[in-house]
Amino acid sequence: MVAPHRIVIIGGYGNTGSRVARLLAARADVQLVLVGRHLDRARALAAELAGTAAHPVLAVGADVRDEGQRRTAFDGATLVIAASSTTDHAGAIARSALAAGADTMDTNLSVPAKLAALQALAPEGERAGRCVITDGGFHPGVPGVLVRHAATLLPGLTDAHVGGAFSIDWRALRFSDATASEFVDELTTMDPETLVDGDWQHSISATRTFDFGDAAGNRRCVPWALQEIRDLPALVPTLRSVGFYIAGFGPVIDYLVMPACLVALRILPSQRPRVGKAFLWALRQWTPRGSWAVLQLEAAAGTPYRQVVIRVSHPDPYALTAIPVVACVEQLLDGPRRPGVWTQASFVEPALFLRRLESLGVDVRVSVGTAW
Ligand SMILES: NC(=O)c1ccc[n+]([C@@H]2O[C@H](COP(=O)([O-])OP(=O)(O)OC[C@H]3O[C@@H](n4cnc5c(N)ncnc54)[C@H](OP(=O)(O)O)[C@@H]3O)[C@@H](O)[C@H]2O)c1
Repeated sequence: MVAPHRIVIIGGYGNTGSRVARLLAARADVQLVLVGRHLDRARALAAELAGTAAHPVLAVGADVRDEGQRRTAFDGATLVIAASSTTDHAGAIARSALAAGADTMDTNLSVPAKLAALQALAPEGERAGRCVITDGGFHPGVPGVLVRHAATLLPGLTDAHVGGAFSIDWRALRFSDATASEFVDELTTMDPETLVDGDWQHSISATRTFDFGDAAGNRRCVPWALQEIRDLPALVPTLRSVGFYIAGFGPVIDYLVMPACLVALRILPSQRPRVGKAFLWALRQWTPRGSWAVLQLEAAAGTPYRQVVIRVSHPDPYALTAIPVVACVEQLLDGPRRPGVWTQASFVEPALFLRRLESLGVDVRVSVGTAW
């Protein structure tokens, strides 16, 4: 009998990791190992999954910032998924996973330091025949796939813009303190970069308004650089303008709390964990209670003028984070091996990926036409 894939999920009981675990547990060829610093929480989810999992689910208490603890946790792994707020340690985690003979994937922020640390592992990964897949999830993770899919629907694609909006009931969810710190990191690392007529430009005022439909309506969104967007002109050479844009949290958070957090971080950078907790507290006070997430691509090709709109949505933003990770993992496990360093958006085959999102409960709508 062939041994199952042993998939280690760091943050396996977190908001993203627990949903990935629930979706992967039922696969007959997968054994899960749930990792986090709270063994009791890992054990509780492992026990809950025991009824549906094809193989016993293991629980490991480990702080993956420590190399020795990583070595123990990754022993025997064939894939390590970092669904943990460990962006600063992504390079070290991937290196330990490669040393254990495993592929790796992360759902962390798309930040230059992480991407450089992972890119440095490319020769080692290729020599070992292993994949390092980064920027997994919803955003990052899906916008680049939507543009690649649009390019197959509209040959000669010249313009592609993807907007994202979500609403989380912050009061209903529990977050690791490390995740709260990462929320404010996101504010400091945000780069408003878009490609405009063939030139990369950085302007926070290059906003776009998207009509996201029923749940979210019309929202003005600001540009936010993701690696998968920077990669697109090489993959779709006809593209002249492309960007990813994100909607805000509402006026109190966008115009008062976020600027205050940025000032606090500038004056007292060592207080990042406290600023993170304050930001999460503010989100719990001043954001609406609704729960939904949506991405919308609006793309066009020249003469004759044609356009495509793709909308991807789910009532649970964390399901819309976990489902793309699972769809990508399935292509990694079931498809031909392609060693190297990839973003999720460049690794997956777009049509198959979108079909799988749909079969896992994501609403995917595609409309192709000759006018806006
Ligand atoms: N790409 C996307 O669309 C997307 C969407 C949402 C979130 N994310 C990213 O995904 C990551 C997880 O976010 P989340 O919202 O799911 O966070 P979360 O619910 O707070 O879960 C984070 C998990 O990581 C674990 N963890 C943190 N530090 C650890 C360490 N040093 N060693 C072992 N485990 C550790 C936490 O457990 P303990 O604290 O108990 O150790 C917890 O289980 C973050 O980087 C976030 O930015 C990406």
